[in-house]
Amino acid sequence: MKRKTVLDIKNMKGISPISALTCYSYFNAVAMDEAGIDIILIGDSVGNVILGYDTTIKVEVEDIIYHSKIVASHNKTSFIVSDMPFMSYQVSKEKAIENAGKIIKYGYSNAVKIEGGEEVLDKITAIISAGIPVMGHLGLMPQSINKLGKYCIQGITEKDKEKIIKDALLLEKSGVFAITLECIPEILAKEITEKVKIPTIGIGAGRYTDGQILVVNDILGLNFDKKPKKFVKVYKNIGKEIKNVFKKYNKDVKNHLFPDINNIIR
Ligand code: KIV
Repeated sequence: MKRKTVLDIKNMKGISPISALTCYSYFNAVAMDEAGIDIILIGDSVGNVILGYDTTIKVEVEDIIYHSKIVASHNKTSFIVSDMPFMSYQVSKEKAIENAGKIIKYGYSNAVKIEGGEEVLDKITAIISAGIPVMGHLGLMPQSINKLGKYCIQGITEKDKEKIIKDALLLEKSGVFAITLECIPEILAKEITEKVKIPTIGIGAGRYTDGQILVVNDILGLNFDKKPKKFVKVYKNIGKEIKNVFKKYNKDVKNHLFPDINNIIR
């Protein structure tokens, strides 16, 4: 099977739900290929779940390129989108094009994702003009954590709701191929999905978006959060199993139970 293109993704709206997951590693890239995941995002959540940072703010363009290159080299069929990290696109149109270009050229990605609406529209338009597909990202924007103060549901007040709808329409007009909607009420995500002709991909945005995305570590229980976020489905708590394996191995070595007779090279 060939790699999905931006047109394949756009044409899925109203036809077939779009599956998307974040991915940062070789094993998951291959496994997601086999599973038929439509979009793979090398998210700046790499900062939280792989690099152990408290926010995505510290993620560098080089981090995204490093992980994108690994993922794109081993996954042959998904459409590969990479996040543009904090301050890699806000400063100027020139800097935004330069960094998006690096991510595509050296990270082998098919598109970039950018957080924000009206405030960053000129940068998004510039990147698209340079021939690079852009996915928008509205609602909860983790790169704005210092402005927000906490990660919480967006689009609650009338003013906030109107801003998100306006931004979604502006993004569509600017030429983005899809919009990620993070942590907004289901009814707002539904309204946006009906208003725009491009696919919406929800994370904590309810049932009516054109696609769903989750952070891979969250669905595998591979993080140190005590309680998973409400919208996350932990398909298997592999994190717990890994911890048990490490404990068992440690105990076995200390108690001379490993290597056992079957593991010895003679
Ligand atoms: O970085 C990320 O993982 C994301 C998803 C939450 C959509 O942007």
